[in-house]
Amino acid sequence: MTPARDRWSYVTHTEEETRRVGATLGRLLAPGDVIALTGPLGAGKTRLVQGIAQGLDIDRPITSPTFILMNLYPGSQGRTLCHIDCYRMRDPVEEGYDLGLDQQLGGEDICVVEWAERIAPLLPTDHLAITIEPLGDHRRRLTFQARGPRSRALLEALAAHLDTDRSTEHARHRRKGTGASS
Ligand SMILES: Nc1ncnc2c1ncn2[C@@H]1O[C@H](COP(=O)(O)OP(=O)(O)OP(=O)(O)O)[C@@H](O)[C@H]1O
Ligand SMILES: [Mg+2]
Repeated sequence: MTPARDRWSYVTHTEEETRRVGATLGRLLAPGDVIALTGPLGAGKTRLVQGIAQGLDIDRPITSPTFILMNLYPGSQGRTLCHIDCYRMRDPVEEGYDLGLDQQLGGEDICVVEWAERIAPLLPTDHLAITIEPLGDHRRRLTFQARGPRSRALLEALAAHLDTDRSTEHARHRRKGTGASS
C-alpha cells in the first residue's frame, strides 16, 4: 500500500483532459466536500468545474457565476453542486460572512470555489485545494493539496484513478505504435 499523500501534481495537455480530470473527481465527491480552486484568469478553473459537474451527472450547462457569486445544480445520488466564484467580490471575507458563505461551505452541498484564496478564512479546514498553473498555450499543471483526512482520502482515490487512466492510455499508445511498425 502506498502512503497517503497530501500533495500531488498532474499535467493536462488539452482543455478536454482538464475536463476529464474534473469528471473523475466529480464521481468521487460526497455531500459536504469542499474544493478550493486557485489560478490566474483563464487558467482552466471553470473547465475543471464543468468536468466535476459532468461527474455528478449534471446536465445543465455550467457557466461562471461571476455576477451572482454562486449557482446551485442538483446532481445524482442526492448530491448538489454549489459553484462559487469570488473574483468580483470587493471585500471577499466580509462580504462572504455577510452572505453566509461560511455556512454554505460548512453545509451538505458539494462546494467548488473559484478564486478560493480570496475567502481563505471562510473555508473549512478539511478541503481539497487545487492550483492550476498555465505552462503554455494548452498545458496546465494541476497541483492538489489535501488539508485534512477527508480530502486526503479523496486525493488518494483521485490519484489512483488518474494513474490507472494514464497507464491505460500509455498502453494503448504503445500498442498502436507496435501495430504501426509491424
Ligand atoms: N489544458 C487546459 N485545461 C483547461 N483549459 C485550457 C487548457 N488548454 C487551453 N485551455 C483554455 O483555457 C481557458 C480556460 O478558461 P476557464 O474559463 O476555464 O478559465 P478560468 O480559470 O475559469 O478563468 P477565470 O478566472 O476568468 O474564471 C479556455 O479558453 C480553454 O479553452
Ligand atoms: Mg472561471
